Amino acid sequence: METEMLSLFKDLSVFDPDVIPDQLLFREKEIEELVRLFAPLQFGFNPASNAVIYGQPSVGKTSVARKILKIFQEEAASKVATCYVNLAVKRTSAEVAAEIYFQVTKHLSRRRVSKCLDATFKTLKNNEQNLLIVFDDFNAFSGGDINTLLQTLLRPAESRFQGVHVRVVLVSSGDDYFLKNRVRSSFEPVEFEFKDYNEDQKFEILKKRCIQGFSRFVILDKLIREVAERATDLRHALAILYYVGGIVNKKITKKDIDTAFNMVKGTPRKNESHLSELETFLFSKIKESTTAISTGELHRYYKKEKGDITIQGIGKSLKKLKMLGIVDYRFVSGRGRTRVWFKT
Ligand SMILES: Nc1ncnc2c1ncn2[C@@H]1O[C@H](COP(=O)(O)OP(=O)(O)OP(=O)(O)O)[C@@H](O)[C@H]1O
Ligand SMILES: [Mg+2]
Repeated sequence: METEMLSLFKDLSVFDPDVIPDQLLFREKEIEELVRLFAPLQFGFNPASNAVIYGQPSVGKTSVARKILKIFQEEAASKVATCYVNLAVKRTSAEVAAEIYFQVTKHLSRRRVSKCLDATFKTLKNNEQNLLIVFDDFNAFSGGDINTLLQTLLRPAESRFQGVHVRVVLVSSGDDYFLKNRVRSSFEPVEFEFKDYNEDQKFEILKKRCIQGFSRFVILDKLIREVAERATDLRHALAILYYVGGIVNKKITKKDIDTAFNMVKGTPRKNESHLSELETFLFSKIKESTTAISTGELHRYYKKEKGDITIQGIGKSLKKLKMLGIVDYRFVSGRGRTRVWFKT
């Protein structure tokens, strides 16, 4: 690699979104509380609760969750096995179970979900270990009923694996109603809402990255502040700084920042928890209705209250709501078979 080209960097990994920074500014309190919550696992006890972290994109949810796992790996590996699964990537409960099995045992498995989890619990029991799992991007899971999986996971103590305790951190992007709708009360988590950083906090985070990542003093605070304000979120801001560091080999100017913003667009990641206007409309109609409501009726409501739309358009949005697990349908017979929708 041309060293001249990347001469501005002291440490490229500082701008890598997948690297957990040493210090997660403004999240110290949450980290401390989460570690305290799960601390009993290392002494062979079952912590009182599971946890949920939710909030908008780029507010440090994944970073904090991974940091917690790292702390347990570093300080209590012999007592607590850890596991990170991104549910936006895994397509089925079987894949999730196989991934947990793999991370705990380092072996591959193609067994059924229950067999796979049993084998995982057996290993944990033999090793006298408890298990802490992070399910990231849980709101994007479309692979079936997460409740069943969670219930099987959280219940080893009731079976022959007594003494093995499993705790879960669910990470969800977006509002909390997903959780309320998708994970039934049996989960009873401690909730951590991660609020977005304010402009000053974003600036502090980015400034720290610049000090760690750039080889010398190459960017003025004023410009870092501008990046913080203009970027769609922290991830975008870091991508801008990384880009600018790659095209400049002297002091960074306002013009360089403008170029970077032209080249690197913020990609607000598609976030299933942010329903479109149509999806929100349909969901609220289904939610408010005391009886199940047909596709045709929903179509008529929309046309009356909002405007023209095809029935196919309605159908597509209903399918998405079903995929998210917040509505379901059954068939009723009338004139032919009619699909009627209800809230799960
Ligand atoms: N408190 C912080 N201190 C330092 N860097 C942070 C902090 N919070 C977030 N970041 C950085 O911002 C980027 C996005 O953070 P992260 O991936 O943890 O967000 P997220 O809340 O999981 O977002 P999403 O909902 O999109 O998955 C990462 O590069 C991360 O290192
Ligand atoms: Mg994340």
